[in-house]
Amino acid sequence: MKTLIVCVSQHHGNTKKIADAMAAVLDAEVRRPDDVNVEALAECDLIGFGSGIAFGKHYQRLLSWVETLPGLDKKAFVFSTRGASRQGSHHRALKGKLEEKGLTVVGEFSCQGFDTYGLMKLVGGIARGRPNEQDLRNAEEFAKALEKG
Ligand SMILES: Cc1cc2nc3c(=O)[nH]c(=O)nc-3n(C[C@H](O)[C@H](O)[C@H](O)COP(=O)(O)O)c2cc1C
Repeated sequence: MKTLIVCVSQHHGNTKKIADAMAAVLDAEVRRPDDVNVEALAECDLIGFGSGIAFGKHYQRLLSWVETLPGLDKKAFVFSTRGASRQGSHHRALKGKLEEKGLTVVGEFSCQGFDTYGLMKLVGGIARGRPNEQDLRNAEEFAKALEKG
């Protein structure tokens, strides 16, 4: 199964750690949106899309890039790291855009990631140490389940 993981991780590199753990299981490449050859997406069986969460959704860099994609009848998965303890509806915007492009979202993963944005900085940040070893193991288990289909 040819898999590509597209990831934007710019706050602390939290989401990249999750992407790398999944990529090792799926034998996938991890790329930033700017480094993806969009035509080559046609050769993928599965495409992962992930970033940190900003203002309740995936990073705008990822959302805007998805808007530029052609229609793709492919399987996809969505992942994120976030400061908040609960996932809430953070994935809704990205999932909606992927589905508009014809992609079928077959799985979702999210965990906390060290967050020092804004007022959080004043208290030394939240979710320090995340993603942790358990988060990485959970990401691997998620990827194994994707592999099995
Ligand atoms: C500008 C900005 C806005 C953020 N907004 C949210 C938010 O709305 N909800 C949340 O749970 N975390 C929020 N965070 C925390 C990040 O989602 C979290 O630290 C994430 O793990 C960062 O991922 P990265 O290191 O891969 O970029 C925000 C962080 C930044 C820098």
